Amino acid sequence: MDGGFVAVLLAAGKGTRMRSDLPKVLHPVCGRPMVHHVAACALEAGADHVYPVVGHGAERVVELLKATFPGAPVTAVVQEEQLGTGHAVLTCAPQLQGYEGAVVILSGDVPLVTPALVRGLVASHRAAGGGLTALTVELADPTGYGRVLRDGAGRPVRIVEEKDATDAERAVREINAGLYVADAPLLLEVLPRLSKDNAQGEYYLTDAVAACLKEGRPVHLYPWPDPEQVLGVNSRADLARVGQVLRRRIAARLMAEGVTLIDPERTYVDTGVRVGPDTVIHPGVTLEGRTVVGSGCTLLPGVRIVDSLLGDGVTVKDNSLLTGARLDGANSVGPMAHLRPGAHLMAGAKVGNFVEVKQSVLGEGAKVNHLSYVGDATVGAGANIGAGTITCNYDGTRKHRTVIGDGAFIGSDTQLVAPVTVGAGAVVAAGSTITGDVPDGALAISRVEQRNLTDWVARWKARKQAEPPA
Ligand code: UD1
Ligand code: CA
Repeated sequence: MDGGFVAVLLAAGKGTRMRSDLPKVLHPVCGRPMVHHVAACALEAGADHVYPVVGHGAERVVELLKATFPGAPVTAVVQEEQLGTGHAVLTCAPQLQGYEGAVVILSGDVPLVTPALVRGLVASHRAAGGGLTALTVELADPTGYGRVLRDGAGRPVRIVEEKDATDAERAVREINAGLYVADAPLLLEVLPRLSKDNAQGEYYLTDAVAACLKEGRPVHLYPWPDPEQVLGVNSRADLARVGQVLRRRIAARLMAEGVTLIDPERTYVDTGVRVGPDTVIHPGVTLEGRTVVGSGCTLLPGVRIVDSLLGDGVTVKDNSLLTGARLDGANSVGPMAHLRPGAHLMAGAKVGNFVEVKQSVLGEGAKVNHLSYVGDATVGAGANIGAGTITCNYDGTRKHRTVIGDGAFIGSDTQLVAPVTVGAGAVVAAGSTITGDVPDGALAISRVEQRNLTDWVARWKARKQAEPPA
């Protein structure tokens, strides 16, 4: 048994103060719903099983947990009516029945907890001989939190919620973080006896402290030095604050790993994104989802990269958007380029300003430098796609592919009406509309031949002057 514990994760509340249709615990912080952060922390800390208590928006929360932790020991427990935090833990009674070990209680709206904190809490609880242990922190501004009341000798007496507190109690700066560990049998004994005789008419888990003491059961307080790890999210303002703290943590990690952040406070990197050393990230860059950036890359201001894979030595210039793209390395993209899902730039391929690429492979060293749309295309190595080239891939019903051979040269302002193939080393004259295949090495030209009418302008002006005024 020693070392083993299970975690109950409180996540059933509506989060009224968020004023949201989304259940509170699904609001993301640095790309992950809060409940994901907390459940991942519990598992990483070594919980043998995690029981998220779900209620408000239960279906969506359960769906997210299933998708996020497939095969992991995470079992949601439904709290049909949200009658308070004490009632929420009691909802897990069937799961905890017969379990002799420790139960760590975490909150889905306290998302910055760390495995070190959870392990510390469990270790302190064991060292103190078990019972009930509540984690506390000192806050300069304790507004909104339950206050921890101690007696003259510093022993715990009870926790009082802000709404039930006297002015003197509200002056206390040691708060209840909403994180606890308790021996399962003790919880099951005490929780059914809680009353809802309080300002909110709820069964407060916090009342378990006084209830245990009343029956002579051991209660310990575990002061934690870092208030940032236990910030609770009740409002959008709290959500922004927690996001800022987590971004700072991520920025610190990246810098420790050798990434230059020109302005860490203006760099937005999701949890789980990886970035190689000697990459330089300018202000206003956002890296999301499953993005991986190699080493020695430069990401210029305003770039957003989602679920994309970047090799080494890639430069992405200002205000480009990449989603689901793959860049093999030494590529240059932008400024103001749009790489959409399935865009694959092989080594050294280049995409310039105002270019959109979708479901297309650009071979090694291929270039699309200006104002083009490349969709459903295969572009050969070293091919050069001139300014304003459009792959006309959609006939109104279906998508068709364009194939451009190695070393081909597509003149500016060309339309390639797919399905169409331009052979290796072929040249397409500027301004052409290509509707048929072009053989290797051929020149294709499809435009009206130019005529020059000698002295036409002078004759036109003379005619104008001869006309009577209107
Ligand atoms: C709670 C504590 C408070 C502490 C604070 C720390 C109580 C009574 N108060 O207050 O002392 O300082 O957390 O952040 O516990 N939940 C359920 N089912 C319910 C009610 C709540 O699952 O019936 C969940 C919520 O979804 C939330 C968590 O429990 O994740 C805490 O509930 P919340 O209403 O936010 O409590 P606080 O007022 O923040
Ligand atoms: Ca809360």
